[in-house]
Amino acid sequence: MNDIRFDNRIAIVTGAGSGLGRCYALEFAKRGARVVVNDPGGALDGSGNNAAAADKVVAEITATGGKAVASYDSVASVEGGKNIVRTAVEAFGTVDILVNNAGILRDKSMLKLTEDDWDAVMNVHVKGAFCVTQPAFAVMKEKGYGRIVNTTSGAGLYGNFGQANYIAAKMALVGLMNSVATEGAKSNILCNCIAPVAASRMTENLMPQEMLAKLKPEFIAPLVLYLCSENSKTSKMIFNCAAGWFSRTEVLCAQGTVIGDGKRDIAPEEVADAWDIIASLENARPLSSVVESFSYLSGVL
Ligand code: NAI
Repeated sequence: MNDIRFDNRIAIVTGAGSGLGRCYALEFAKRGARVVVNDPGGALDGSGNNAAAADKVVAEITATGGKAVASYDSVASVEGGKNIVRTAVEAFGTVDILVNNAGILRDKSMLKLTEDDWDAVMNVHVKGAFCVTQPAFAVMKEKGYGRIVNTTSGAGLYGNFGQANYIAAKMALVGLMNSVATEGAKSNILCNCIAPVAASRMTENLMPQEMLAKLKPEFIAPLVLYLCSENSKTSKMIFNCAAGWFSRTEVLCAQGTVIGDGKRDIAPEEVADAWDIIASLENARPLSSVVESFSYLSGVL
């Protein structure tokens, strides 16, 4: 097995002041990357600022001979995103790797969610990932190399109670990945999603201690590093990752059935009659793009 190294690679990790992001930043640096540790600090709900969050991680990296700079901008604005990427370019000359990891939580059940809860979560997770990806993508496209990882979640992919804002945001990151991977393919820009489960301040009150002890953030970093490695060819894929479990998960399209001939009307009763096959996932598979779904319509279109 070849060593996975990041010598001469520049990595931006957003939300790297704690939890998973800190772990990625340390691991990238250990393997030779120069790292932008982005984090404005602040509480789990996104309130407040604290430069110490990013500074501490930079100090941890430099104490062991690694190279890192702090960035205190919020990802959640165009200006913030540009500043984060500018920090990488000014400190280290370029950006090769971006891990969109920054996140906050404002969990409430459907009827209790406020507009502010919705906007705050969307702004950090979705707008934030876009705001950093766009200027990073510009640099990566120019040089013909880039590795981007978005952080989705099992709650987004499979559902959970009381997190409509977070769940919608996390699925939007899959959409952003589809777009970045498709537009980046020609320029060797790969983009994937991870759905981690790990002990952090985000999960410390959600699971029992014995479980949390096994869900080390250190178990997620190897997947992120592999996806960001030079030899990886993987793009536009989603991976579950928890406590040493690694698995691919996908949005699938099944064969289904064609009713009618594209000309005559279709009655809801015909949909009812064909429901077993319409709702079946038999032979379901991931599609490379929306255009591929038209292949199921041959004979009609
Ligand atoms: P965490 O709360 O320890 O880390 C999130 C970091 O993002 C914090 O350091 C925070 O200051 C930073 N952040 C918040 N708003 C920011 C902003 N506007 N700009 C830049 N940074 C900002 O939580 P954890 O668990 O490490 O989460 C990391 C990512 O993984 C998040 O996107 C989270 O949604 C996701 N995730 C975590 C899971 C878990 O089991 N821990 C499960 C599924 C997804």
